[in-house]
Amino acid sequence: MPFSNILIEEPESGIHRLTINRPRALNALDAATLSELASALVQVRSDERARVLLVTGAGDKAFVAGADIAEMRAYTPEKARAFSAQGMAVMDAIEALPIPTIALVNGYALGGGCELALSCDWILASDSAVFGQPEVKLGIPPGFGGTQRLARIVGRSMALELLTTGRHVRAAEAAAIGLVNHVYAAAELQERGMEIARLVAGNAPGAVRAAKQCARHGLDVDLANGCLIEAQAFALAFATADQKEGMNAFIEKRSPRFEGR
Ligand code: CAA
Repeated sequence: MPFSNILIEEPESGIHRLTINRPRALNALDAATLSELASALVQVRSDERARVLLVTGAGDKAFVAGADIAEMRAYTPEKARAFSAQGMAVMDAIEALPIPTIALVNGYALGGGCELALSCDWILASDSAVFGQPEVKLGIPPGFGGTQRLARIVGRSMALELLTTGRHVRAAEAAAIGLVNHVYAAAELQERGMEIARLVAGNAPGAVRAAKQCARHGLDVDLANGCLIEAQAFALAFATADQKEGMNAFIEKRSPRFEGR
């Protein structure tokens, strides 16, 4: 199904790239774009060959400049509640994907754009990236999970500073506070993202998914239960052909050929 406001591509086998493509509004998320994102995520989720998802914004100015202010302006509380639920469902769907997700932030990632990046497993930024939760300047708090996910990544104090001042955070500071993993020159961001995606896609698919699931679910439980989740996944991996292939390849000093089973 063709989309109007997003692009979904598979630039290399198993590497999917989702691009928010509304440059005239700095890729702001309106209800139609959120609906397209939800459909695209169902598509990615149902592709058993998918290994990793890159999420980025079209153009060189913005990743996503937030939820669409022009659309939200006349919302009633009921409409706002439904819009928040729609946005949160998209963020939850990204977070729950079984494959790793990487945000490539190539400019402004504000409000809903910062929340979209936060719902990915990690963030790579260009040196022109600008993050922030400026909703309080518009008379609202964040509505796509920002008050929750930001604190879980940068800690409560820094999150509260950013949520209540609404100030912008440039790439170098975003790296210093642990919001982004790496910062690259703007012209390099997409290729560096592909390089990291290739590293993920080259590993045993089941092991990658298991590592993600353990880390994700483990954070919701105490350490002992998290370790039980990991031990179970570790044991089950020994029933796979890829475990045999990975270990045989190591002993035989050759590259493994993983088949995802
Ligand atoms: N919604 C709708 N349109 C937006 C937008 C947004 N979030 N952000 C930018 N645009 C539009 C502008 O209205 C403008 O459109 P026109 O050309 O038709 O006038 C176009 O994109 C270019 O924007 P600017 O002229 O403002 O560009 P700039 O370089 O001067 O500034 C910016 C860039 C700092 C990102 C500025 O556009 C800005 O501050 N945008 C709003 C950021 C924001 O407040 N985001 C949070 C939204 S609320 C939210 O996201 C709630 C939630 O959690 C769900």
